[in-house]
Amino acid sequence: MAIGGHMVGFRIGTLVTSVAATILLGLPLIIALQASLAGQTARDISGLEGVASCAGTTCHGRMEADGVIVRQDELMRWQEPSTPGGAHSRAFAVLSYPRARQITATLGLGEPTAAPACLGCHTTPVSGATGQRFSPGDGVGCEACHGPAAGWIASHYTVGASHAANIARGMTALDRPAIRAAVCLDCHFGSDKPGQFVSHRMMAAGHPRVSFELDLFSTLQQHHDEDADYIQRKGRTDGVRMWAVGQAMAVNRALTLYATPKGTEGAFPEFYFFDCHSCHRRIYDGEERTRTWEGNPGRPIPAGMPPFNDENMILLAAAAKVAAPGMAARLDSDSRAFHAALARDRGAAVAAGGRLAATATALASALSSAGGGDTAFAMVDAIAGPGIAPRFTDYEGSVQGVMAIDTLINALVKEKRVTIGAAAGIRANINRAYAAVKDPNGYRPADFRASLGQAVRSIRALR
Ligand code: HEC
Ligand code: HEC
Ligand code: HEC
Ligand code: HEC
Repeated sequence: MAIGGHMVGFRIGTLVTSVAATILLGLPLIIALQASLAGQTARDISGLEGVASCAGTTCHGRMEADGVIVRQDELMRWQEPSTPGGAHSRAFAVLSYPRARQITATLGLGEPTAAPACLGCHTTPVSGATGQRFSPGDGVGCEACHGPAAGWIASHYTVGASHAANIARGMTALDRPAIRAAVCLDCHFGSDKPGQFVSHRMMAAGHPRVSFELDLFSTLQQHHDEDADYIQRKGRTDGVRMWAVGQAMAVNRALTLYATPKGTEGAFPEFYFFDCHSCHRRIYDGEERTRTWEGNPGRPIPAGMPPFNDENMILLAAAAKVAAPGMAARLDSDSRAFHAALARDRGAAVAAGGRLAATATALASALSSAGGGDTAFAMVDAIAGPGIAPRFTDYEGSVQGVMAIDTLINALVKEKRVTIGAAAGIRANINRAYAAVKDPNGYRPADFRASLGQAVRSIRALR
């Protein structure tokens, strides 16, 4: 099943049996981020060694997952053809497709495989030195996520190596939800680093839209096992936490990026940040008004103005209600104030956006230690509850809503609160919610909310 051009829905159907394995160590967000930044700047460890340097048959290039500590067939999984797991190894190759040429030809960017505007996300971004084995043709290589390896490649598998020592040498702590989210969002939302922004003009030229959910997408590209050894080294992953922190980081990213020059395009705001369908609707000139939009209780904006895409604000509000109730009211009032400020002027919107971004950061930190127990059930309830469900009035938010439900049911299976058989039994209800967002142009909010409600009732019945 494709969602707005993605194949995500279809792939998720298989997740119930291959549930996410993600992780959390309890370090507060800020300390963790500072530690990793300090590690990166302390000495020159920014060198990229290239996938070939990881790919030896005694390293990560085995044909069998028979490694003692890690699988060691990670290369093969990263390369898996025609699966989401192999998407990153194909990221450069897709720049030779006709679709890529059409995009760059429309925008006057020349050959896509050499266009800086594309390479920041379709290859491993280069900011420092590159070793002889590094090649942009590798696409999004190991170091795009795990960090430049010059500082740790020689030591990370030796006796006495530890996760902490690796991180100190520049390895990225992908086991921490906030750090992982920041890495993925660079390409799966955008950043102000070179070549990492899909503008509305790129989309108008033919680039697919970009949608993302941290826990779900982590599972789709997972190439490690969360076995006893992993848990001993890095701790157990909490999927609900991963999801919730992912929402907070996405809100923060959208608002901080909107405040940069990326937030405008010529005389206009950058349309990428706004809800696509609010502009891309039909017009009826009949005598009687045909209203194609719905009022939204979370967004006090005047009729006739495009709403800021609030998909992650909606789900973050649900997460906060359950796992950080003391901050839920502040999030609500900050996000309402931001939407309202958009009707005034850019200065007011940027200021209000800054406050909302700070609240999201604080929530990322609070949610990093939430989770466990009954939270997944409670989150599902909150999403369908009276404070949140009426906010599903638009396509993007609804896609994010159905991904959330799917992630949460997977978390329940992983925590053994729901059996695989029971989850499979209600799959049809979840698929109906996916079907309601399958065709962006056929999206109807009331139908979506009805199918979401049905999916949630069937999950509730498993409690
Ligand atoms: C901010 C990061 C980012 C930038 C910049 C970017 N892309 Fe992409 N691109 C993506 C992501 C993420 C996807 C996958 C979208 C999805 O399906 O979720 C993608 C998908 C594509 C696809 C479809 C691939 C397929 O499998 O069918 C093409 C073609 C493409 N990009 C070309 C380009 C070109 C050409 C440029 C430069 C003009 C560019 N991209 C710039 C992130 C980016
Ligand atoms: C899109 C991002 C991304 C890319 C690209 C990527 N990885 Fe990973 N990798 C992850 C994430 C996320 C995890 C799970 C979190 C963790 O423990 O680091 C992981 C886990 C691993 C693990 C298990 C770590 C452990 O402690 O057990 C190994 C080994 C690994 N990756 C190797 C590779 C290799 C080799 C490549 C390139 C062929 C690669 N990865 C490419 C994101 C990525
Ligand atoms: C340097 C940029 C970059 C980073 C960092 C990155 N990705 Fe991607 N990712 C891409 C691009 C580009 C594509 C689309 C490739 C294609 O199919 O054309 C993609 C595709 C994917 C897909 C397949 C999506 C689909 O619809 O098939 C998944 C899943 C994914 N990424 C997960 C992640 C996760 C999880 C992280 C963080 C741990 C991450 N990515 C980090 C650039 C990146
Ligand atoms: C503020 C209004 C506005 C928003 C929000 C908006 N667009 Fe557009 N879009 C436009 C305008 C104006 C055009 C140019 C139409 C023309 O050329 O006649 C356009 C053109 C396009 C086109 C090309 C259509 C064609 O017929 O070639 C695509 C595709 C597109 N937008 C996708 C998107 C996506 C995806 C989003 C959300 C990320 C989005 N738009 C958000 C106003 C908007």
